Formats: sequence, structure tokens, C-alpha cells
Amino acid sequence: MDTTTRGKALITGASSGIGAIYADRLARRGHDLILVARNEQRLSEVAQRIRATTGRSVSVVAADLGKPADLARVESILREDTQIDTLVNNAGFGAVVPLLEADVERMEEMIGLNVTALTRLVYAAAPGFAQRGQGTIINIASIVAIEPELLNGVYGATKAYVLALTHSLQHELGDKGIRVQAVLPGATATEFWDVAGMGHENLPAEWVMRADDMVDAALAGFDMGEVVTIPPLQDGSEWTAYESARKAMSGHLTHAAPAARYLQPA
Ligand SMILES: NC(=O)c1ccc[n+]([C@@H]2O[C@H](COP(=O)([O-])OP(=O)(O)OC[C@H]3O[C@@H](n4cnc5c(N)ncnc54)[C@H](OP(=O)(O)O)[C@@H]3O)[C@@H](O)[C@H]2O)c1
Repeated sequence: MDTTTRGKALITGASSGIGAIYADRLARRGHDLILVARNEQRLSEVAQRIRATTGRSVSVVAADLGKPADLARVESILREDTQIDTLVNNAGFGAVVPLLEADVERMEEMIGLNVTALTRLVYAAAPGFAQRGQGTIINIASIVAIEPELLNGVYGATKAYVLALTHSLQHELGDKGIRVQAVLPGATATEFWDVAGMGHENLPAEWVMRADDMVDAALAGFDMGEVVTIPPLQDGSEWTAYESARKAMSGHLTHAAPAARYLQPA
């Protein structure tokens, strides 16, 4: 275990699942922690366990990131605590219900947490990171960012936003000492699936990764310098080819003339 302090990490959604494992792993890597979620009791249990096993300083902030006042409180912490050098934007939820059968109020709530809260926390953290010339932003997206047909479509769209935002953050902040990473987990054995409406026990076992394996692989990807890490993708060259195709097309996406296929014969 590393006993030097490496700065402070603020992790959202740290009361369970992937966020609680990030908390453990970042503490073992030498980070002090600020853990954020709604359930204070569960947060305190995670914090207590990590203090006992790592000796790190761990504080908890009970906040509902879907509520503007609570979100503003967490934004202030990110702006004011200059010891924070890592933000893990992990809090989020999904749904399995088909797009048009889903309750639009719940969809808006999902956008509020997965998109709006994540964006506001990036805006709160990034200027200080840039000013200090160091910082890390890890955004937990999902494989549905590139396969939105798999689960609820709004969920997929929120995660496509997280992936696109991460590409842009890398483009704009990558040369300012800021590390940015989007993590795209596949099915992972957490309470996510109960919240989404179908326990992961109902999925084929060969699809479902353990949360600690997912986080350890994501951190391995981070250590390798990846901007996008997809722990379950067995053949990494498939992502490289996808990105190469996207980048090749990027040079052809604006033109004064409509493409010939859209020109109607007179
Ligand atoms: N599990 C998967 O298969 C999977 C796959 C791809 C991506 N992901 C993504 O991974 C991330 C973590 O999910 P998980 O799998 O670890 O599920 P999880 O165990 O349900 O964790 C979700 C975390 O977010 C917190 N949270 C939920 N609503 C919140 C709110 N309004 N304000 C603050 N915190 C809130 C929850 O804590 P409280 O209830 O205490 O607030 C919990 O700590 C999510 O962004 C999810 O979309 C998961």
C-alpha cells in the first residue's frame, strides 16, 4: 500500500457499486477522499472501512445531485478545496424499459443526474485543475454510449453525451496537465440493474463482470494513458479501428456543396 498522499479525490456515487470500489482503489493509491451520494449511512460505512484499511482521510457529503441546491454544495467544494486533484463522475442510473414506454419525468431525472450534474461538476473542477496545471477527470460512461439500442434509449443517449464530452475535454484540456478518461463498462454486477428494473442475475453470467474487476481494468487503462477505456472489449483493435474511422471522416464533414447523392437531377 502506498503511504504518500497523492492529493484528494472526489467520487460521486461512492455509497455502492463501482463508486465504492473506486474509493477503495484510489485510497490504496494514496488519495484522501471525499465521497458523495444520497445515502449517508452507506457512505459512512464505506468511509469507515477505507479509513480502517488504508489510514487515509475520508470525508462524506450526503447530497442528491439531482437537486440544484445539493449539486451547488458539491460544486462549491470542487471550486474551493484546492487539494482536490481528481474527480470521478460516477453517480448515475439507467433503465431497461423501452424508450417510448418510459416515464418522461424519470427520463428527465436521468438526464439531470447523468448529464447535467456531471457537466456542472466538470465545470466546477476543471478551471482550478487547469490553473494548477494538474488534475484528473474520470467520467463513467457505458458501452451503451456506442450501442444505444441495447437498453433504454435515453440512458444510452446520456452516456453518448458523457463520451462526447470526454473527447472534447481531452481536446481542450489535454495539453493543460489534465488527464481525462471515459470508462465504458459493460454489464457489471451492481445494484444498477435493480434500479434499472432488472437484476443482473437475469443476464447471462458470461456477460456480467465483477465490479472490482471492472474498476481495476479501468485503472489499468488509465495508467496506460487511455482516454477511452472499455474493460470488457476483448479485442482493443476494434476500438482503435472505430476511432480511426471517426477521425478519418472528421476531415470530410464540412463542405460548401451538398454531396452528389443529394443533388436532384433538374
Ligand atoms: N452496473 C453496470 O452494469 C453499469 C454499466 C455501465 C455503466 N454503469 C454506470 O456506472 C455508474 C455507477 O453505477 P453502479 O453500477 O455502481 O450502480 P449503483 O451501485 O446503483 O451505484 C450508483 C451510485 O450513484 C449514487 N446515486 C444515485 N442517484 C444519485 C443522486 N441523485 N445523487 C447522488 N448520488 C446518486 C448511488 O448512491 P445513493 O443511492 O446513496 O445516492 C450509488 O452510490 C453509473 O453512472 C452507471 O450508469 C454501470
